[in-house]
Amino acid sequence: LSADSLYIVNSFAQKFFATQLFETEEGTQIAESYLTERGFSKETLQKFQVGYNPQARSTLAQAALNQQYSQDVLLKSGLVTLRNDELVDNYRGRIIFPIHNNSGKIIGFGARVIGKADKAPKYINTPENEIYVKSKILYGLYFARLAIDKADECLLVEGYTDVVSLAQAGVENVVASGGTSLTVDQLRLIKKYTNNLTIIYDGDAAGIKAALRGLDMALEESLNVKLVLIPDKEDPDSYVRLVGATAFKDFVADNKKDFILFQLEVMLKEAGNDITKKNDVVNHIAETISKINKAEDFSKQQEYIRQCAGMLKLDEGGLTNLVNKFI
Ligand code: UTP
Ligand code: MN
Ligand code: MN
Ligand code: MN
Ligand code: MN
Repeated sequence: LSADSLYIVNSFAQKFFATQLFETEEGTQIAESYLTERGFSKETLQKFQVGYNPQARSTLAQAALNQQYSQDVLLKSGLVTLRNDELVDNYRGRIIFPIHNNSGKIIGFGARVIGKADKAPKYINTPENEIYVKSKILYGLYFARLAIDKADECLLVEGYTDVVSLAQAGVENVVASGGTSLTVDQLRLIKKYTNNLTIIYDGDAAGIKAALRGLDMALEESLNVKLVLIPDKEDPDSYVRLVGATAFKDFVADNKKDFILFQLEVMLKEAGNDITKKNDVVNHIAETISKINKAEDFSKQQEYIRQCAGMLKLDEGGLTNLVNKFI
């Protein structure tokens, strides 16, 4: 089974799903109700090649078999499963977000249930295969890379709909991590276009934790990392719809925090007046600062030592010694 055969079946499926969304009664109904209520324009949906997999058991499977696609490649693609000797669609009744590689070929899909996700998982994603390797994928990069290059900044959000909504609002330098913590491979993809990474995560505890997990790695890759936390219970998609494009851009500009200083602020708040905890904070921040690539960013490291020593009411020389212990 070749990688090419997977690209080809994915491309077939994308076209099939798009036709279903815009040219069938079932699909048009979804487009006009659910997707319109969420504020997605037809133009945006078409740009991102969004589609729809009908509810019937095997609409896609039948169309693909009619076109002589093999059972093997269909199973490998994750588009269908085998049930009682019959191929059935995996993404029945779901909105389909295709995921592209850097040359625009479709490597997989994210499939969202319509409406609230009560019983079924909200999204089903393509299983790992020869061309879909989750740790190396950033959703939206294919559409965002020119804008990232131009802005010299990459905005990182959690979800598919965050990318699509922000692009529709004119914020195009956005990619999504898919809700998991960042990997080195994803950071290196970003580094091809810019050294400036701004993480825009949900303001809830889970969002903050997920963001902080990527920090040390990003520093080792010499990225300048900023963080914007979206107000409570919102995500970038819902927030940009709530306040509009201009206010969203202003919010991001006004609320960009330096990631290291933010981490220190959070830890200091948690430690309160507890001496032992404060000592842990000093060690932790020294370790974080030690991750800054000293060969490439010596002056940056010095600047962080100065600012963090100030916040910790420590002497700069002492913090420098501690940082050097971790190198
Ligand atoms: P969220 O739960 O924040 O969803 O998950 P969302 O992106 O805001 O989607 P909408 O707006 O409700 O439609 C963030 C990301 O985590 C991954 C997806 O990539 C999603 O976009 N995720 C989430 C899954 O892969 N599976 C899930 O069941 C849920
Ligand atoms: Mn969240
Ligand atoms: Mn979300
Ligand atoms: Mn959302
Ligand atoms: Mn840490």
